Amino acid sequence: EGDKLWGGRFVGATDPIMETLNSSMAYDQRLSEVDIRGSMAYAKALEKSGILTKGDLEKILSGLEKISEEWSRGAFVVSKSDEDIHTANERRLKELIGDVAGKLHTGRSRNDQVVTDLRLYMRNSCSVLSAHLLQFIKTLVERAAAETDVIFPGYTHLQRAQPIRWSHFLLSHAVAFTRDSERLGEVKRRINVLPLGSQWFDPVYVFFKITELDFASISLNSMDATSERDFVVEFLFFASLLMIHLSKMAEDLIIYSTKEFGFVTLSDAYSTGSSLMPQKKNPDSLELIRSKAGRVFGRCSGMMMILKGLPSTYNKDLQEDKEAVFDVIDTLSSVLQVATGVISTLQIHKENMEKALSPDMLATDLALYLVRKGMPFRQAHAASGKAVHLAETKGIAINQLTVEDMKSISPLFGTDVSQVWDYAHSVEQYTTPGGTSKSSVMVQIEQLRELLRRQ
Ligand code: ARG
Repeated sequence: EGDKLWGGRFVGATDPIMETLNSSMAYDQRLSEVDIRGSMAYAKALEKSGILTKGDLEKILSGLEKISEEWSRGAFVVSKSDEDIHTANERRLKELIGDVAGKLHTGRSRNDQVVTDLRLYMRNSCSVLSAHLLQFIKTLVERAAAETDVIFPGYTHLQRAQPIRWSHFLLSHAVAFTRDSERLGEVKRRINVLPLGSQWFDPVYVFFKITELDFASISLNSMDATSERDFVVEFLFFASLLMIHLSKMAEDLIIYSTKEFGFVTLSDAYSTGSSLMPQKKNPDSLELIRSKAGRVFGRCSGMMMILKGLPSTYNKDLQEDKEAVFDVIDTLSSVLQVATGVISTLQIHKENMEKALSPDMLATDLALYLVRKGMPFRQAHAASGKAVHLAETKGIAINQLTVEDMKSISPLFGTDVSQVWDYAHSVEQYTTPGGTSKSSVMVQIEQLRELLRRQ
């Protein structure tokens, strides 16, 4: 065991299956670049405090540079004894520059190294994910801006409720995603804390290390620094909530894409066919988005279960955090890009959307008509309900009732009631902020555009 970093006190060999179980090399290779960046910053700090000579530093930096190049060329050769990316890079550094490599680990443990690496990696990933998320929101908002004149049914309990603008529906999703975007920013802020050098004994260079790696602040407590994975859970929770929103939008569109609804058709690029039934065009992209939500929740709850009841500071259980984080980063990255593609290529069927509107959806407006004539809303609601019932018993649509029929329900009904039976007029009544009138929808679009500009 002499070749292991910690081999000094060992005489017996590690069990081979234990070795496999223990190794994180297969997945934490993804940290190779940030691991080297962290080591470079750390070496510079060691030199400033006199642990390394200028010559040592030069050797270490050029060795690390060489390793970085090997990784990027795919030329780095992983050895069987490499437990993880940190031991692998250190082993290679020793091969390249000799014993001076051993000075790099002064005052540093793998436990603060791994958490520094993960924070650096996640910080970069958050920026990439944030760009994908903003592009997706922008796609929803610009689509809404282009299709403000399309009116279709709004639903509650999946039952026809009131006419709304298609744009209003798109924006309802966009607004939820802006909260996810904000949340991501907050998570990123808490990721951006430097734990490296928790055993460090020269506070003068703490400042140096922060600026070198561009962290905003430093951990307040060394025990907390190596043990806390709040930032991991917060990231996984941000991802979970984002997936809740994505799966909800996906479900709406899956329903709208059925022949029964016929409101939308997915482009071929985001659909698949059936191996048996030639006519099928299945919304697989949306179904995958819906299912990936379950996958992400599993990662989030799995991580919380790993953390629950762990004793203080570092325990090997924490090694499990990386696969969860990498998997969720990859999932979000593809899901967001596919969702953007689905929305930007979706075909809508205006005629079917309009055909799905029915006069009974204007029953609320009928009540409001009476309210405008001075009737209290509760009474007006009951009167409108009576009109719905009367039409149903007569087997006709509510707008087919005669003025006499209406007057039998309330004397406040007059010939001007005919203006109620107009979907465009209906949506235009809702001019308050957040409403479905054209002006309200335009205000929403402008506010979202402004928000996107500020990102
Ligand atoms: N591969 C380990 C991880 O992912 C690095 C830290 C190992 N520390 C230790 N004391 N064994 O967490």
